[in-house]
Amino acid sequence: MSSRTDQTESRNDSSGDHLPDQREGGAVAEADDPFADPGLPPHEPRRQDIDERAARRSERTVAFLFTLSMLATVGFIASYVAIPIDEIVFIWPFGHISGLNFALGLTLGLALFCIGAGAIHWARTLMSDEEVAEERHAVEATPEVKAHVLEEFAKGAAESQIGRRKLARNTLLGALGLVPLAGVVLLRDLGPLPEDKLHHTAWQEGSLIINEATLQPLRPEDITVGSLTQAMPEGLDPHAENFHAEIAKAAVMLVRLEPEDIKDPRSAEWGHEGILCYSKICTHIGCPATLYEQQSHHALCPCHQSTFDLADGAKVLFGPAGHPLPQLRITVNDEGFLQALGDFEEPPGPSFWERG
Ligand code: FES
Repeated sequence: MSSRTDQTESRNDSSGDHLPDQREGGAVAEADDPFADPGLPPHEPRRQDIDERAARRSERTVAFLFTLSMLATVGFIASYVAIPIDEIVFIWPFGHISGLNFALGLTLGLALFCIGAGAIHWARTLMSDEEVAEERHAVEATPEVKAHVLEEFAKGAAESQIGRRKLARNTLLGALGLVPLAGVVLLRDLGPLPEDKLHHTAWQEGSLIINEATLQPLRPEDITVGSLTQAMPEGLDPHAENFHAEIAKAAVMLVRLEPEDIKDPRSAEWGHEGILCYSKICTHIGCPATLYEQQSHHALCPCHQSTFDLADGAKVLFGPAGHPLPQLRITVNDEGFLQALGDFEEPPGPSFWERG
């Protein structure tokens, strides 16, 4: 403590009159080198270093902690064997909990804590606490070592006859060149190429728009101003193997805006009486962007806060998304149900290489 205070004082004093004293391994400060290495403070022996009885007491404390750890480990094994898995006990302040879990956690925690505490106590009181400074040397090899290594390398090359045995050398190079191809072939295990699957979804001309919650086809009167309805195309079987792959591309949301609120004429034209149908898959990395703010007509993606203006072609107003949400062209069929006029005109969801 006192040596630290000395150092602080000497650091605060820039006059040069009270430069640090020379310490163990240090250099004397001189006029042209006022920041000479102060060296290490002198070692101050601890009580255990000079009093054997104190050292024995510390040893007994360490041994006690290690013994306690052993007992806790035995307790862990005994709890595992003896306590039924469905035993519920009341432990304040946790309430009713599994007796087995409590016993296992307590005994294992105690066993590990005692090993750590014993090791720390040992290190702080019994192991040597003398500070030593290890001088650093240049890492670079000396010119002699470099010359020796080059000489050894040339000698090894000559002994291997790699220059003379051209057949062996060339076939070795061929083998080494071909071996990475095995790794390239294994790339096939990544699965089939996506081909143009990302450009197509389950929507097609005439697909009924199904409420995702009720699985019933939607009519225009089901979509009210201010609400957001999540939907999917008819014909997707939730139990089918490819359901999740298909719904990940085809999921949509429908909103109804007052016609005069729609800023983008193309958007209005692709909708039906103010009902607009957009992909709900965020174009950043694919979360559902379905937090709807009905006053501003903004859809917010909860993952990274991308915000889309549904009144203006779902343009990105904020956040990391790179594209507007694609819009689905919709109409109403003869039976009064909402249906798609075709697939999306651009791939829904996050960007990918070929999309740019
Ligand atoms: S996934 Fe929507 S903002 Fe990141």
